[in-house]
Amino acid sequence: MDNCSIRKMNQEDLSLVLEIEKVLFTSPWNQEMFLQEIELHDSYVMEIEEVVAGYICGWEVGEEFHITNIGVKQSFQRKGFASQLLFELISSKMEKGFRYFFLEVRESNFKAIHLYHKFGFETIGKRKRYYNYPVEDALIMGLFPYGKPDYI
Ligand SMILES: CC(C)(COP(=O)(O)OP(=O)(O)OC[C@H]1O[C@@H](n2cnc3c(N)ncnc32)[C@H](O)[C@@H]1OP(=O)(O)O)[C@@H](O)C(=O)NCCC(=O)NCCS
Repeated sequence: MDNCSIRKMNQEDLSLVLEIEKVLFTSPWNQEMFLQEIELHDSYVMEIEEVVAGYICGWEVGEEFHITNIGVKQSFQRKGFASQLLFELISSKMEKGFRYFFLEVRESNFKAIHLYHKFGFETIGKRKRYYNYPVEDALIMGLFPYGKPDYI
């Protein structure tokens, strides 16, 4: 996809990111939450023809990397963009020495669960009533390219 690129998210991206986020989630992140990701953690946007069409955020925690958010604008879904975001993020973190990848997902979010399975994520647990609007359990999923840690 020649017309698509991934780069660090910055404050100027937030109006478009928030617009996408509000459509995708019933309990969307607000500006403050994205600002914290930009300032303290890792967040990237995908641009298609120089317009933000998706994003991914995560936290480095020791040897673990926690993916905290991923979204692709509805009109660009099912074209491989989330896969590309995940692939770039996971590969770059593996190169930096991260060994374990974690995330939470709504139990009913079959699109995202399919995506994570395609990457080799497996379900390792459940957080009861983790989400609101509507209340729902979260699956905890992990990807262990070098094998599971002792504590799993
Ligand atoms: C989940 C999401 C990020 C996927 O983005 P995307 O760019 O459409 O994903 P891709 O095109 O890379 O698809 C990769 C795989 O995801 C799965 N998938 C994506 N959309 C799907 C759908 N509508 N039905 C079934 N599986 C789907 C498939 O396994 C797909 O692979 P395939 O096309 O070879 O079958 C997107 O649907 C989204 O933004 N959803 C709302 C936000 C969200 O739920 N984020 C996850 C929070 S944990």
